[in-house]
Amino acid sequence: MGEVDRRGLLAGSAALAVAVGAKAVVAAPQGGGFLWGTSGAAYQIEGGNYASDIWALEHITPKLFAEPSGDADDVYNRFDEDLALAAGLGFNAHRLSIEWARIEPEPGQVSQAALAYYRRVLETCRRRGLAPVVTYNHYTVPRWFAAAGGFETRDGIEPFVRYCDLVTRHMGDLIEVAATFNEPNVNALLSWTPMIQQMQPMIAGFRHAAAAALGAPHWSSPMLGDFRVQQPIMIEAHARAYDAIKAASGGRFPVGVTLSLNDDQPAGADSGIETKRAQVLTPWLQAPGDMVGVQNYTRSQIGPTADLPPEPGAELTQMGYPFAPHALEAVIRLVASRTKRPIYVTENGVATEDDSRRIAFIREAVGGVQRCIADGIEVRSYLHWSLLDNWEWTNGYKPKFGLIAVDRTTFKRTPKPSAAYFGRIARTGRVA
Ligand code: GCO
Repeated sequence: MGEVDRRGLLAGSAALAVAVGAKAVVAAPQGGGFLWGTSGAAYQIEGGNYASDIWALEHITPKLFAEPSGDADDVYNRFDEDLALAAGLGFNAHRLSIEWARIEPEPGQVSQAALAYYRRVLETCRRRGLAPVVTYNHYTVPRWFAAAGGFETRDGIEPFVRYCDLVTRHMGDLIEVAATFNEPNVNALLSWTPMIQQMQPMIAGFRHAAAAALGAPHWSSPMLGDFRVQQPIMIEAHARAYDAIKAASGGRFPVGVTLSLNDDQPAGADSGIETKRAQVLTPWLQAPGDMVGVQNYTRSQIGPTADLPPEPGAELTQMGYPFAPHALEAVIRLVASRTKRPIYVTENGVATEDDSRRIAFIREAVGGVQRCIADGIEVRSYLHWSLLDNWEWTNGYKPKFGLIAVDRTTFKRTPKPSAAYFGRIARTGRVA
């Protein structure tokens, strides 16, 4: 099917802010201060996640993915080198996800080696002074779980809760902040994009083809799920997992979800903006949680039933949406107006080959975070997506989100100027 933008397809403790001149300065992190760092997801960087649903989908026809994930960045073997790089840049936090399919490759069959592996990763984070921000589920699920209907059946709740309990018992003592799900609202969000609306028949066809090719009539990958069916079940799964994680950890770290949110603005009096918010934001603010993870990449104008296309002449990122570093501030303010929970910026970034645009993006976006903090909003982290260039779902390796480039053959890491730039912000709390 060629290259499709995935978004198009599916599309501690409080920060201390003090005003210094016209600028707000976020106190440099010191044992539990504001969290500065980067964000990533196991499937997109580890490589070789053979037991995951997406691995199976990558290898069927018709093709949905521009290229397979393959070895990705080989982070599975190189995590120590990468965490050393992150710490060396001056970060004090690191967001990562745990791949359920490694922990439980077959139903009920737990890999002690995988549990020990992720424990080692979290221990390495701690040893290097990086507070682990852990996502229990970042889109991908075990292949057997998708084959059994995923989160489109309430039977999916119990296995997920068991997995969350297991992970917490094995490594909860090392976790700083946790999200049960990454962007469980993304399918609702993407249902507003005109391209996705037009692609519904194609997506339905792909789901059928996947079920047939994989011999699993009820195959449901969360990434391709129908949000009207899936979202209520995921809310219940989240609520149960929240209780399980709190119980197994003795409540020692905050737990919530991370949400994908655009800076939406109404296009006219008949805009569907509040309907959209009622689908992508409100249900998750009503679900249990100690924090809200905010993930923002762009802005959009909302018509009656769909997002409008970017205005002519707008600067677009490699993902095809507007370059909009100011959007993050607007989204933080929106979320803060609707909940008292602390906000963690768990993703924000830009896909570009021009690293000077990434520097400009970071400067503006972090400036927005600092203005929010100066206004008394409790923002506790800025985690940039991403440390490394990585596999961007259906887009493959083309979009460059990383502060560090990765050679696709040798896996050699080469920091870009933006890495040093953002590292300086993290170390000083100052936007240069
Ligand atoms: C998402 C995910 C990441 C993406 C990132 C860049 O928001 O889709 O959490 O997996 O890779 O956002 O698009």
